[in-house]
Amino acid sequence: LTDVQDDLTEILITEEQIRSRVAELAREVERDYAGKDVLLIGVLKGAVMVMADLSRELRIPVTMDWMAVSSYGSGTQSSGVVRILKDLDTDLSGKTVLIVEDIIDSGLTLSWLLSNLRSRGPESIEIFTLLRKPEAARVEIDVKYVGFDIPNQFVVGYGLDYDERYRTLRGVGILAPAVYS
Ligand code: PRP
Ligand code: MN
Ligand code: MG
Repeated sequence: LTDVQDDLTEILITEEQIRSRVAELAREVERDYAGKDVLLIGVLKGAVMVMADLSRELRIPVTMDWMAVSSYGSGTQSSGVVRILKDLDTDLSGKTVLIVEDIIDSGLTLSWLLSNLRSRGPESIEIFTLLRKPEAARVEIDVKYVGFDIPNQFVVGYGLDYDERYRTLRGVGILAPAVYS
């Protein structure tokens, strides 16, 4: 980890802060969805870490499915052009759906995904995101659970990548501009 530490200007959110915030939000999810079977939909690949931690923290029955979409490629800016790389295995009709994301940046990925998934007839659909960048929003999205609002800087770790690297960092850090410029 030490070599990677040099690529960060600071650790924005520690492993422990993530753990306690995810646990706190899990209690809210349990209350809101008591008596329901919830289908968690993770957005690959960024959401793998938050999905793993949130799903195991929840004390209500959940199932998981995954969708892979990509809008960033290897750049640091969202293109807004979303491609489905892997679709769900599950039929959404009548399902209680909670989308699990690592970050809402411009919001373009989720806004596209929401309308795509809504058209499949779920009973309800809400969003859980670990991170959100309010200053970067290009579309308004109604998000039910937000872990942390963060400044408009390029962050990596806990699932978030730059060019597929840094996903395995346990916390979230700000990537040094020298790495991508
Ligand atoms: C990242 C991130 C979100 C999305 C947010 O995914 O994981 O899914 O971008 O950006 P937006 O709000 O500006 O649309 P990415 O497309 O990089 O794919 P990845 O999850 O495989 O890294
Ligand atoms: Mn993603
Ligand atoms: Mg990415």
